[in-house]
Amino acid sequence: MISIQGIKKNFGSLEVLKGIDLHIDKGEVVSIVGPSGAGKTTLLQIIGTLDKPDAGTVCIDGIDVSHLSKKKLSDFRNQHIGFVFQFHQLLPEFTAIENIMIPAYIAGLSQREARQRAQDLLDFMGLTERASHKPNELSGGEKQRIAVARALINHPAVILADEPSGSLDSKNKEELHQLFFDLRDKFGQTFVIVTHDEQLASITDRTIHMRDGLLETTPIDTINTIEL
Ligand SMILES: Nc1ncnc2c1ncn2[C@@H]1O[C@H](COP(=O)(O)OP(=O)(O)OP(=O)(O)O)[C@@H](O)[C@H]1O
Ligand SMILES: [Mg+2]
Repeated sequence: MISIQGIKKNFGSLEVLKGIDLHIDKGEVVSIVGPSGAGKTTLLQIIGTLDKPDAGTVCIDGIDVSHLSKKKLSDFRNQHIGFVFQFHQLLPEFTAIENIMIPAYIAGLSQREARQRAQDLLDFMGLTERASHKPNELSGGEKQRIAVARALINHPAVILADEPSGSLDSKNKEELHQLFFDLRDKFGQTFVIVTHDEQLASITDRTIHMRDGLLETTPIDTINTIEL
């Protein structure tokens, strides 16, 4: 599903990633934890093809993304990867349902189909009544759930989330975390989640510890593999 090998990344003389190998299976919910500056966001951006490594390969859904042209890469990202960030990054001028529909439009779906998919996602998230609200008329938790729906609309291979609950209170945080597991259980959705939230990390299938640009090896008995 996702296979990365020998990933290295420098920013000037700073070695941020020093050789990362990682394999993630379909339907896994994986958390990446580690101190600030360890390279977590950089790694997630490289997995998400938003940044290029200096060395190593990233394979997603069997496609080696290293050789794709810029145009192919943005199509690939649109169709295979969903992103959720700490701050929802919804477009303020558009309603909740329109925000969810945008990636589907970009992928070439008809308006009718995009709206239907967005409506189904809103229903799934219990946000049917919020379809025509603009982001400033939504709570923080609702905005993050809309951002998850937007990430899901093109049925991505993986959702990459960077501190998705970092700006939420504990109730909304728990609801968002539960949503990730509901999506995994119902649709086999794969997640890679960078988080400082120990409670979230503790309930994911696997926690990857990162320090100084390297993954710390996890004792085998703490790896909790899942069966689908
Ligand atoms: N575009 C960039 N140019 C130069 N240095 C960068 C750039 N992006 C990140 N860095 C540096 O790379 C290191 C790793 O950054 P990264 O954002 O990946 O850390 P992180 O593990 O996500 O930290 P945090 O938990 O604080 O979000 C940091 O020292 C950071 O200053
Ligand atoms: Mg970060």
